[in-house]
Amino acid sequence: MTTQFDSVRENNGEYLWQPMTHPAESRRNPPKVIVGGEGVEIIDIDGRRILDALAGGLWNVNLGYSCEPIKRAIANQLDELPYHSAFRGTVSASTVELSHEIIEWTKPEGMARAFFTSGGSDSVETALRLARQYHKVRGDSSRTKFISLKGSYHGTHFGGASVTGNARFRTPYEPLLAGCFHVAGPNTYRNEFDESDPAVLADRCISALEAEIAMQGAGTVAAFIMEPIQGAGGVYVPHESYMGRVREVCDRNGVLLIADEVITGFGRSGSWFGSRLWGVKPDMMCLAKAITNGYFPFGACLVSEGMAEVFEASEGSTAYIAHGYTYSGHPVGAAAALATLAETKRLGVNDNASARGSQLHDGLLGLQAKFDIVGDVRGGQGLAHAIELVSDRAAKTALAGDVVARIHDAIYEAGVSVRVSGNKIILSPALILEPAHIEQIVDALAAGLSTAS
Ligand SMILES: Cc1ncc(COP(=O)(O)O)c(C=O)c1O
Repeated sequence: MTTQFDSVRENNGEYLWQPMTHPAESRRNPPKVIVGGEGVEIIDIDGRRILDALAGGLWNVNLGYSCEPIKRAIANQLDELPYHSAFRGTVSASTVELSHEIIEWTKPEGMARAFFTSGGSDSVETALRLARQYHKVRGDSSRTKFISLKGSYHGTHFGGASVTGNARFRTPYEPLLAGCFHVAGPNTYRNEFDESDPAVLADRCISALEAEIAMQGAGTVAAFIMEPIQGAGGVYVPHESYMGRVREVCDRNGVLLIADEVITGFGRSGSWFGSRLWGVKPDMMCLAKAITNGYFPFGACLVSEGMAEVFEASEGSTAYIAHGYTYSGHPVGAAAALATLAETKRLGVNDNASARGSQLHDGLLGLQAKFDIVGDVRGGQGLAHAIELVSDRAAKTALAGDVVARIHDAIYEAGVSVRVSGNKIILSPALILEPAHIEQIVDALAAGLSTAS
């Protein structure tokens, strides 16, 4: 093992720029090199086995690293047809099969057509573009603006970054797309209304959305985009009334509702989709990540029956979809997705996400009772959690970065990998975790937190 990896150790951090990483920091502290994965564990270059509390690092390896049916489906598809475009005129069989499968699964959400992409940012970009185009096809070309939530994350393309509600992902790349506006999101720990009651906060946020639409002029707004549970921004579970009321506001104003389900799709919230959790039928759904269990870059933008009718009833050139990616509907990705969806359903991972999510939530509340630096515990709806670390609970002062980094290292040393974002620790483990894994995560967090003082 040592000889084989010598050059990797030597080059680590030298020639690579990593996503979401400061290049200078990466040279000072080269990344941990991961060389294997088995079950819900990763194996690093030093041979250590670490429980992956992030499902691949990015909420996607929901079925773990050893899902043989997906691996076989990928290998078989590579043998049969490793690639062919899905642009006008031809398409692969697996792509057609997947479109049927996914539309059947999202019938309760009213979805009717699938447009495939290479990932979440592509899916969001597709949804934003189709939203504008939909209004043009209807002859309402003044509806071009987008509204989204502060604190949201919608990927890194210019469109997605423009609707993302976090300066960190926007400022270095500004100016972004014109016509994008942000309203308060249902974050009970920190919000501009100083409101901690989730139901009252939902009222305030709905009023803010209505006011923004009125201020912009409803006739100029194309779509509102939201994550059913805000994930990457720090896991904010809205009050159960919130998304349904957003739907009503959108309907009253002729605004499309895009559900960005890149994280909440396929069981993470305890329901198969975040929209289903809140009982909402959006106009579009953005999917990616767990659609192939992270084994192949793939995504989808689904559109509703109503939108499909508008496009398909129009013979005009405006309805021509002048949008697509070389890898849209990649046959290997589609085969991976078909196998993933079959396994996801067979294992009923949504129910396990619910049960293990509650167990993890209780464990985190236990840590909050024990450690003063745990200012807030969020989640409780499936397997998506965050804890916010503070040096002063009453003032909610964020814990210093070097202390957070020490805690992070100590958690890894205790055998668990978690994500740190600012002063937040984010947990998004595989949905196949067993009760003992949750105990291991909570114990490792306790070991990490105890290094703070
Ligand atoms: C809600 C949401 N939308 C979009 C994206 C972007 O997806 P990708 O990184 O696959 O482009 C992410 C990624 O984390 C996400 O969480």
